[in-house]
Amino acid sequence: QQKERATLLEANGYASKLYRYVLRNTEAGKPAMDYLRSRGFTDKLIEEFGIGYAPSRWDTLTQALQRNGFDPEEMERGGLLLKRHEGDGYVDRFRDRVMFPIHSGDGRIIAFAGRLMSAGQPKYMNSPETPLFNKSRTLYRLREARGAIRKTKQVVLFEGYVDVIKAWSAGVENGVATMGTALTAEHAAVLRRFADEAIVCYDGDNAGQAAAYKSLPLLEEAGFRVRIALLPPGMDPDEFIGEHGAEAFVREIVEGAVSAVKFQLIYLRKSHILLEDDGKIRYLREAVKLVARRDSPTERELILRELSQEFGVSLDALKQEAADIRRQEK
Ligand code: GTP
Ligand code: MN
Ligand code: MN
Ligand code: MN
Ligand code: MN
Repeated sequence: QQKERATLLEANGYASKLYRYVLRNTEAGKPAMDYLRSRGFTDKLIEEFGIGYAPSRWDTLTQALQRNGFDPEEMERGGLLLKRHEGDGYVDRFRDRVMFPIHSGDGRIIAFAGRLMSAGQPKYMNSPETPLFNKSRTLYRLREARGAIRKTKQVVLFEGYVDVIKAWSAGVENGVATMGTALTAEHAAVLRRFADEAIVCYDGDNAGQAAAYKSLPLLEEAGFRVRIALLPPGMDPDEFIGEHGAEAFVREIVEGAVSAVKFQLIYLRKSHILLEDDGKIRYLREAVKLVARRDSPTERELILRELSQEFGVSLDALKQEAADIRRQEK
């Protein structure tokens, strides 16, 4: 078991070397380099994040691993190779993809994410779960971001690998991402060891906002103070940085992240039509319910005051309603 882990780590390291070499030094890597350039990846970013390219041939890595004495069956369990559907033998799992290595806490490569350069499915392919790689615990870039997270006591959560990379180049060094899967309680527990505050910076589309909404209770139960960064509809952090620059991203989006309850109110509002009294009352009741669940009396008062001004309802009435709800829910 221990021996297999060591072999797989070695194989991943070898594969990463090969992918990096192909990207930097071969004709086959040129289109991938052009692709990365067109997406604003500098040499510095490509180096810092260990990005590579898996060539489109069926068996480049398969052959290279075999030449170096790795057992293909073991490499298949490690997620680097696939068994041929027909006939004997193995082929490369990752072909014609830009490769992002994923590191463990001690800096070894435990998995890869590979992105297609053209439209096609799946856009990203990750290593499968292996003895080294557990998706519900692993966070992209955690090892490298750990120092910055500790120092700021703050972690910024992104949806995508590219978002983490571009945010880093914009000066946000405390960013991590999940493996294209939902955030889990295990992720939250791992991060809580280093940070008190989590800033959720997911994509500005419906999927991203829904995922941010779902992450709230999870992060709060782990003991985080949570804020949500709001991106323009349909934009993700990478696109925002490309369009508006690093400084706007840091100042407006990350530093401008709103409190959990503010985000919940914004989210709730999308599903209510506020033109009629009816709709307003329903919205207010749901809104007060959300506010009532906050532990801090100051936070409750602050938000209720805003709601009271916006809807022309007395603060007393809202407070009364919140108090009733708190009593019922106890
Ligand atoms: P780019 O288009 O390269 O900028 O990717 P993105 O990071 O903006 O991707 P998107 O917002 O579509 O998805 C966010 C994250 O979800 C990605 O970074 C991946 O981790 C994951 N993801 C996206 N598409 C797929 C897919 O087809 N398969 C898998 N397994 N994961 C995906
Ligand atoms: Mn997305
Ligand atoms: Mn995205
Ligand atoms: Mn997308
Ligand atoms: Mn993107």
